[in-house]
Amino acid sequence: MTRTRILGTGRALPSRVMTNADLERTLDTSDAWIRERTGIGERRILEEGRSTSDLAAEAAAKACRAAGVTPAEIDCIILATVTPDMPMPACAVFVQQKLGATNAAAFDLSAACAGFIYGISIADSFIRTGQFKKIVVIGVEVLSRILDWKDRNTCVLFGDGAGAAVLGADQGERGILSTHLYTDGSAWQELNIPAGGTRVPTSRITVDERMHYVKMNGREIYRLALKNITRASQIALEHNAKGPEDVDWVIAHQANLRILEGVADRLKVPLQKFHLNIQKYGNTSSASIPIALDEAVEEGKVKNDQLLLFCALGAGVSWGSALVRW
Ligand code: ACO
Repeated sequence: MTRTRILGTGRALPSRVMTNADLERTLDTSDAWIRERTGIGERRILEEGRSTSDLAAEAAAKACRAAGVTPAEIDCIILATVTPDMPMPACAVFVQQKLGATNAAAFDLSAACAGFIYGISIADSFIRTGQFKKIVVIGVEVLSRILDWKDRNTCVLFGDGAGAAVLGADQGERGILSTHLYTDGSAWQELNIPAGGTRVPTSRITVDERMHYVKMNGREIYRLALKNITRASQIALEHNAKGPEDVDWVIAHQANLRILEGVADRLKVPLQKFHLNIQKYGNTSSASIPIALDEAVEEGKVKNDQLLLFCALGAGVSWGSALVRW
């Protein structure tokens, strides 16, 4: 049976670290509040002069090396982000150039924190139909440039980073077993950037009113994340006739430690099986799953034939899950 396998992974994190103590100096917040409510201790901030595609290309190059694939062999780049270099063209075209993936079609997709799961789902279809042979899926965000650093409700939560995976066809039981994608557009108000698109174009007023920054109803997003990540994970298991005891590792979107504790509890998969890095990077949206995956692989946690569950929810709200036999 032809399956899509993850052949190699990579990640790129900016070197600049911003700790909770750094935030205490400019905001009415505290290390204790942030840690207790979210589990976050620090996050990475991209240096001035670099942009989203720089981080993405770095992660993608590492994933190609890990997969033993040259950039010229890549025939498609799928880049998940809500923070592209510019509104047009797609951020993926800059990555194509920087990576030297001259034979690749390249496009962006926007599904916020669920972006990487959407990306591997699309890649899986492309590969199993034979349209493309080697696809790099990237999740990347430079959220520090769209955060309101005066809004303690949002800016303490997020960070910058990139993760990537090279996917290709293989025969056998290893690879992506299934992906499950969902959206509830009625919840769009709970997390968005109000201005800068066609609905509210950029103007002096939108800038003055700080409408180009992330706005979020944290409590509602929390509730939606807990409910939908749990359900999507259960669906992935049921679809493959697996139970919680069959899961070796959960590679979940790192939004908030409390959300993941709740998901672990409801799913009946112990939190020890979740690879956690929220304390180091905060919420890196679409980058969070591929960064966590690459770390788990590098640390030798993930072994051949183990069962991995991916799950995430983000703005939209859009969410999803995937079950992978590594
Ligand atoms: N430091 C100190 N106090 C703060 C901060 C802060 N950074 N932010 C908010 N507060 C205050 C509030 O103003 C409020 O004060 P008040 O009671 O005087 O009004 C108090 O803390 C409690 O605020 P709540 O919003 O009720 O706090 P809550 O316990 O719900 O935690 C949080 C807020 C952490 C945002 C939580 O709702 C959450 O994690 N939601 C999920 C959001 C999320 O993860 N979004 C990421 C994008 S989507 C995704 O990835 C799933």
